[in-house]
Amino acid sequence: MLADKRILLIIGGGIAAYKALELIRLLRAAGAGVVPVLTAGGAQFVTPLSVAALAGHPVHQDLFDLTTEAEMGHIQLSRAADLVVVAPCTADLMAKMAGGHADDLASTLLMATDKRVLIAPAMNVRMWQHPATRRNLAMLQADGVQVVGPARGDMACGEHGPGRLSEPATILAAIEAALGGGPLRGRHVLVTSGPTHEPIDPVRYIANRSSGAQGTALAAALRDLGARVTFVTGPATVAPPQGVAVVAVETARQMLAAVEAALPADAAVCAAAVADWRVAHEASQKMKKGAGGLPVLEFAENPDILATLSRHAQRPPLVVGFAAETENVVDHATQKRLRKGCDWIVANDVSPATGIMGGAENAVHLITADGAEAWPRLPKSEVAARLAGRIADHLNGKPA
Ligand code: CTP
Repeated sequence: MLADKRILLIIGGGIAAYKALELIRLLRAAGAGVVPVLTAGGAQFVTPLSVAALAGHPVHQDLFDLTTEAEMGHIQLSRAADLVVVAPCTADLMAKMAGGHADDLASTLLMATDKRVLIAPAMNVRMWQHPATRRNLAMLQADGVQVVGPARGDMACGEHGPGRLSEPATILAAIEAALGGGPLRGRHVLVTSGPTHEPIDPVRYIANRSSGAQGTALAAALRDLGARVTFVTGPATVAPPQGVAVVAVETARQMLAAVEAALPADAAVCAAAVADWRVAHEASQKMKKGAGGLPVLEFAENPDILATLSRHAQRPPLVVGFAAETENVVDHATQKRLRKGCDWIVANDVSPATGIMGGAENAVHLITADGAEAWPRLPKSEVAARLAGRIADHLNGKPA
């Protein structure tokens, strides 16, 4: 599965570092080459000798060693890999990554790499739950860093809860999925995301409050399951994920053209908050106040991208829409599913009191031909992971 893949494995300091030895064994058994890097903390828990022996490769520990070698500097080491894995990833390493530090070999490699990064955090439960770690995690995820775990359970420090390093087999599965071996391997999924901007004149436009967070999280989750993702995004405030094909658009009409150009696809998810209307006649110069009183804007209806896709000659086998509602969420979304002709609708209540639009969490109902399923309020990344899993199951013929 991982034949010819090269993993740069950074082993951080923590009692769980011993599990990195098993991870190296599993990676090599799966055919991967492992280039190990041991932090100063990591070297307190496992020896360079055992790491090198299992990896079949010398261990890198010192930034200075690398920078003195003209041919094998940190830049080259960070780029020759297919994937950078940090396991265990300590609270301190997460903080360094989030803050952009480069004061030792591991943090410098993480700053210099142009490859995807997967971290497997492991730390005391209080450290994991600390607001600083929560902040760092959110920043890293927004930067496109993939995260596996931590698992829950008894910890070496005697406490219980989330913080244990995921089992090596789980980390291996995440590595395989990150390298395109997941259940959506070979599938093409189209995602629309963000708001659209509809120009009034060269300096003004109509917009909405969508941040693009849910669509971005979804694209990342689909990518993590191995899909090739085309991400058609309006001007969102959240940066697009790494490892997906980004098509940046402004208006609804541009979004539709980009979506049609990306077909065929195995599935499409329309998470964009598309403006329903545009100004019928965009002014070519900035509109001036004064003369002629208040301007009156005439509107024209925008194309409905979801409805167009659902009835397209190249209709993806699975078309999923979102429904932004402020009342009678399930009823309205159920009608919307039929009206738009899509297969599933993810319905969310976007009334200001819910804090969902522009927020970090979402509480959704999944509406299918079989009815409505209420999901608990979850971080948008978890809603995305669940939905991506359901899409994978559906495309692979597994019952819900
Ligand atoms: N959508 C779209 N193109 C549009 C409008 C909406 O593709 N021009 C998609 C959205 O991406 C979403 C779904 O349609 O997946 C529903 O969007 P929503 O804003 O909830 O519905 P509207 O079509 O605007 O309907 P209404 O105004 O009646 O709520």
